Amino acid sequence: MIQTVTLNNGRTMPLLGLGVYKIENHQAQHAVSAAVKAGYRLFDTASVYKNEEIIGRALSRCGIPRDRLFITSKIWNTAQRLADVEGALDRSLERLKLDYIDMYMIHWPVPGCYLNTWTAMADLLESHKVLSLGVCNFSMQNLEELSSISGIVPVVNQIEVHPLCYPQKLIEYCQSRGIVVQAYAPLARGAYLDHDVLCVLATKYAKTPAQIGLRWAVQKGISVIPKSANPARIVQNADLWNFSIEPEDMQILDSLNADLHTSGIPEDLIDILHY
Ligand SMILES: NC(=O)c1ccc[n+]([C@@H]2O[C@H](COP(=O)([O-])OP(=O)(O)OC[C@H]3O[C@@H](n4cnc5c(N)ncnc54)[C@H](OP(=O)(O)O)[C@@H]3O)[C@@H](O)[C@H]2O)c1
Repeated sequence: MIQTVTLNNGRTMPLLGLGVYKIENHQAQHAVSAAVKAGYRLFDTASVYKNEEIIGRALSRCGIPRDRLFITSKIWNTAQRLADVEGALDRSLERLKLDYIDMYMIHWPVPGCYLNTWTAMADLLESHKVLSLGVCNFSMQNLEELSSISGIVPVVNQIEVHPLCYPQKLIEYCQSRGIVVQAYAPLARGAYLDHDVLCVLATKYAKTPAQIGLRWAVQKGISVIPKSANPARIVQNADLWNFSIEPEDMQILDSLNADLHTSGIPEDLIDILHY
């Protein structure tokens, strides 16, 4: 049974979900069916992934009632620059064939735009087309600025987290303010799966390196959204709840941080994003 976390608005979100970036047309139904069978209820997409339509179709056929699913999408930078927040949400809903999404997120803190985007998103809560609001790739400074203009605290900050990328101060900052950290690229897109320490711990706990990396995160209360289109790996990545990593091994994993970012800043932001 996948564990859940209570968000700062009282809603519940699974700690584990399926990331669907780069899941292709021909893979979507198979991947979503395998995930649902393995207990996944959280699905993380975005307009820029260009697969909302096929993911929506796969979810509509998955046999799970809508109110038992937690579906996330994100507003892309272009729509932020055009101040087209409600239009962007409506187009995502149309592609997903949904009346509402569970969490709508700012994909990147586009300078000069993201505060206005957040204000417009807060207005959308009234419409019930979105139940919770989150952000991605926000620094402490971005979050401070948000709190200075709005009383609505994001329920989630989705950032890159895995044993080779452990932004501890930002994680502690979020958690101290009731913002759930959600780890994207929690497998570092494969970069730590043959790391010596992960392999040794995998042998010790009779798990795979992927399961060690994912368990390390969820044991810290961090939500994880590993992507896989492979049914066997989808099942493997969800098998995290029947073991725990001992404190001294958690510390060893903490010490592996190398600030390795496998998911770069998008090209259209590189020149203007300052961290
Ligand atoms: N907000 C943001 O800016 C942002 C940025 C990046 C990602 N994300 C979200 O986070 C999700 C996950 O991140 P990601 O897709 O970049 O990377 P990831 O989940 O760290 O890694 C995915 C890669 O690992 C492989 N894989 C999955 N499970 C495996 C296992 N058990 N053993 C070995 N290999 C395995 C997958 O291949 P197979 O499919 O062949 O299994 C795929 O190549 C995305 O899908 C997206 O939803 C958000």
